[in-house]
Amino acid sequence: MKRLGLYIHIPFCQKKCNYCDFYSLTCINRLSEYICAISKQIENDSPLYKDYEIDTVFIGGGTPSLVLPKDFNSLVNSIKNNLNLTQGCEFSLEANPGTLTKEKLIAYKNAGVNRLSMGLQSTNENELKMLGRIHTLDDFEESFRLARECGFDNISVDLMYSLPNQTKKDFIKSLKDVISYNPEHISSYLLKIEKNTYFGKIENSLSLPDDDEQYNTYILMCELLEKNGYMQYEISNFAKKGYESNHNKRYWLSEEYVGIGPSAHSYFNGKRYSYKSNLEEYLSELSQAGTVKKIYEAENDEFEAQITKSDEYLMLKLRLSDGINQNEYFSRFGEELLEKYPKLKSYVSLGYMKLKDNSYSFTPKGFFVSNYILTDILSFGQNS
Ligand SMILES: C[S@@+](CC[C@H](N)C(=O)[O-])C[C@H]1O[C@@H](n2cnc3c(N)ncnc32)[C@H](O)[C@@H]1O
Ligand code: SF4
Repeated sequence: MKRLGLYIHIPFCQKKCNYCDFYSLTCINRLSEYICAISKQIENDSPLYKDYEIDTVFIGGGTPSLVLPKDFNSLVNSIKNNLNLTQGCEFSLEANPGTLTKEKLIAYKNAGVNRLSMGLQSTNENELKMLGRIHTLDDFEESFRLARECGFDNISVDLMYSLPNQTKKDFIKSLKDVISYNPEHISSYLLKIEKNTYFGKIENSLSLPDDDEQYNTYILMCELLEKNGYMQYEISNFAKKGYESNHNKRYWLSEEYVGIGPSAHSYFNGKRYSYKSNLEEYLSELSQAGTVKKIYEAENDEFEAQITKSDEYLMLKLRLSDGINQNEYFSRFGEELLEKYPKLKSYVSLGYMKLKDNSYSFTPKGFFVSNYILTDILSFGQNS
């Protein structure tokens, strides 16, 4: 049977954080209605997935841990009753400090959740306030402790770096604090100032670390994590051995997944599509037609339309520390990797990439500037 990942988007948050552009709304009184609607959608869509086994489920957001145990159980029942889940399926849930209780954690555990991803962002109280987070460090510590007590033995913690006014030393303090909690997985993202957020609106007044400071922080972060047993497997993701996120890896390995909910993306039957970021329309289409209009990528974005399948494969594979293998590329596309992308070689001599076991991959220094390097390697118009 073919394998598939399932992503469920929960587009609700108690409060919008100052930096966040993920699709979520604060009308949490509509959560139960939403859960009921997408549970029905899963049932309606299930014939499409009858030849597939789901080996990763990821419930993300927004803030999935706002969902009440009774609603959570009906969502999981709909997933389990309508889809084929593998034995040992990786089942992740984004759980925010400040929204977790022991009762919820027990319900998640009993429903089959076996991996929690907790957004902390910083261990500095002033930074948490500046980011607009709803929780304190104490809230996080209590949530983490409760999660362990309830038997969660696979926990990931999210951090962000290069925050306004943050020095390298400030971030390293947060990172060391997180390492001391001993999670199995750490994601650490460079803060991106998104146009449609509060930070986007006040960008000119923010004092952000310059490129050199960002670069030095990134390199130090990679070294410190590796020294403490967290292997880098993607630009922003680090895990103890055996604890990489299989669900997130499938995005970068060009494996299939379906996303449910407004703004969710899918790669299914060789096609990429998404749903519009609009809860109202999503719910009304579902109630009227039992299904939601899909926006296929080529219709959606001119830039995407220019990217060939091999370009897309290269870009996704190079996000992973394992990189892109020359033999695999040849068997997939019937041409030599270096013939198509000759510039790869020059980045090895410059120290931005390495060639090991027939695979090209970024070094930490290369990861930091990977967007620029990829644009150069792909050199649209010359390769196609
Ligand atoms: C899908 S978000 C939601 C996670 C969860 N709701 C939370 O806040 O903990 C996953 C992660 O993306 C990261 N993130 C969100 N917006 C970001 C931004 N503008 N720049 C960098 N990282 C960002 C944060 O670390 C966040 O924990
Ligand atoms: S970072 Fe998380 S909690 Fe904050 S607005 Fe975004 S999705 Fe919601």
